[in-house]
Amino acid sequence: MLGGVIFIALSNLFAIYPAQVTRFTIDYLNDAVWLHQQAENTSLQNNLTTQFYKAFFLFFLIIIITTLIKGIFMFFMRQTIIVMSRHIEYDLKNDIYKHYQILPLSFYKKNHTGDLMARISEDVSQVRMYIGPAIMYTINLVMLFIMVISVMWYVNSYLTILVLIPLPFLSLGIYYISNIINKRSTKLQKQLSHLSTVAQGSFAGIRVIKSFNREEQNSRYFLSSSLKFKSLSYQLMRMDVMFGPIITLLIGASTIITIFIGGKLYINGTISLGNIAEFVLYVNMLTWPVTSIGWVSSIIQKAAVSQKRINEFLQIRSPIISGKKLINDNEKLSIRFENVSFTYPESGIKALNKVSFEVAPESSLGITGKTGSGKTTIALLLMRLYDPDEGSIYINETNIKEFDLTSLRQAIGYVPQDVFLFSESIYKNIVFGLDEHEKEGLAHVYEVSKTAEVYDNIIQFKEGFDTLIGERGVTLSGGQKQRISIARALIKNPQVLLLDDCLSAVDTQTESKIIQNFKTRLAHKLTIYISHRINTIQHAEQIIVLGNGAISEKGTHDELIALKGDYFQQHQSQLMAPESVH
Ligand SMILES: Nc1ncnc2c1ncn2[C@@H]1O[C@H](COP(=O)(O)OP(=O)(O)OP(=O)(O)O)[C@@H](O)[C@H]1O
Ligand SMILES: [Mg+2]
Repeated sequence: MLGGVIFIALSNLFAIYPAQVTRFTIDYLNDAVWLHQQAENTSLQNNLTTQFYKAFFLFFLIIIITTLIKGIFMFFMRQTIIVMSRHIEYDLKNDIYKHYQILPLSFYKKNHTGDLMARISEDVSQVRMYIGPAIMYTINLVMLFIMVISVMWYVNSYLTILVLIPLPFLSLGIYYISNIINKRSTKLQKQLSHLSTVAQGSFAGIRVIKSFNREEQNSRYFLSSSLKFKSLSYQLMRMDVMFGPIITLLIGASTIITIFIGGKLYINGTISLGNIAEFVLYVNMLTWPVTSIGWVSSIIQKAAVSQKRINEFLQIRSPIISGKKLINDNEKLSIRFENVSFTYPESGIKALNKVSFEVAPESSLGITGKTGSGKTTIALLLMRLYDPDEGSIYINETNIKEFDLTSLRQAIGYVPQDVFLFSESIYKNIVFGLDEHEKEGLAHVYEVSKTAEVYDNIIQFKEGFDTLIGERGVTLSGGQKQRISIARALIKNPQVLLLDDCLSAVDTQTESKIIQNFKTRLAHKLTIYISHRINTIQHAEQIIVLGNGAISEKGTHDELIALKGDYFQQHQSQLMAPESVH
């Protein structure tokens, strides 16, 4: 920044020299012509001509060289200040992104993805425009004004004042127009992002659109959005085209004043002919900085709004605070929920109501219940993606709030209900949860894929584990995705396995194979199965049935069947149509 300020001063200094040399040249020319005429018909005349040409060539060289030097300093001015602003932009972006990663799930529920994106990209670049160009032009303006106006004042104060009169109007006019332009371009931006949301939605939902024959309607909707975009662009354009003429008009006014008043002063003998030329150049030098006042002030306004929006997010603190205790890799874990209640703050839905249960080390728990009864919520609370409103959760009789968050989550292998895989290779998706040094090669990956019964599927793809999935790769079936998601949880070798409805899209035969694998290979782990399907959970050593967020029944499979309650009913209906329960 400091370097930049010095370069601004130097480049302005070298911008003034050419104007002064121009003045000198014109005055010299004036005298030279007069002298030349005096020497008419003498031998001196030829001699003078050569001298004049030499002098002109010298002046010409000086102008070129000083202008070049000015250009070099301008280059360094941009190199320092604009590059500095890019560095700050880079840091700011990374800070925001890092902060995003820490923020809790509830934050992501409250804010749109578009908004998150906008703050990290558009808002940051508004702030950068302030730190870089806006500061640069402001300093430039101040320096140039001081330098140029003092030189002008030295030549003639009266002419200086007159010539400067149109400039404030220029600045005001630009400010006014750029404000209007800003408003219109914000509107245009909004419409553009709407347009891309519409397009994005229709690409993502193309299967549904085609199967419901909605292509026509969809195109019409896009058309109407893009018509609106067009009319907004016209409005913006109408303002944009005013810019040039206004600037030209006001500079023209200054130039006319310079020549008219300057001409009179020349006739009076107050100033020289060269001074008029010099003034015209000075006025031109001042024009762009004056124009930039309006532009810079609108940048500053926008940057202020953007920084405020960025700060809003940066100041949010995650309510989920990490403890200090670590969980040892080989420790056997038990889990206890004690009167746990939880209400989703966004919807006000009480998802859990005084839930208590206990799971001993190396044993298994099945959780079942109607849809929306709070099963997934139990999983989220155990991983501290949310904290309970009331009651506590213990691991080995220590409140989970006392554990280091990373260590806690490391101990749990979670297979979420809504499978999410990244648009990467299958291999990368499976080793996702491992640190770089833990990736031991393929043997381990093969082993977990076999446990998850997905190995045979994967090797059937032409590129095996290197097969890309997602947008540009193969589309996996629901069941394949679920099993890759299981492999991803297993490879971490967690002490607790948390399987949230992860077999819902797998046929019953494969399901029993997977469960058999779990029983034989993962018997020493604490396993929690969540499912509607009795098949999935019936072998668990203990089963709880949730109804409206509270535990309605508890026991082993046989005990619950004997109870002839909800569990029994569910079992009966699933026996009759085992495949329809998805
Ligand atoms: N992020 C959320 N914000 C607000 N409410 C939520 C949120 N997630 C779940 N809920 C509500 O909390 C209740 C319990 O949801 P939960 O996902 O735990 O049910 P579930 O038993 O897993 O259901 P399913 O069997 O359909 O998966 C539901 O009424 C649901 O609408
Ligand atoms: Mg669920």
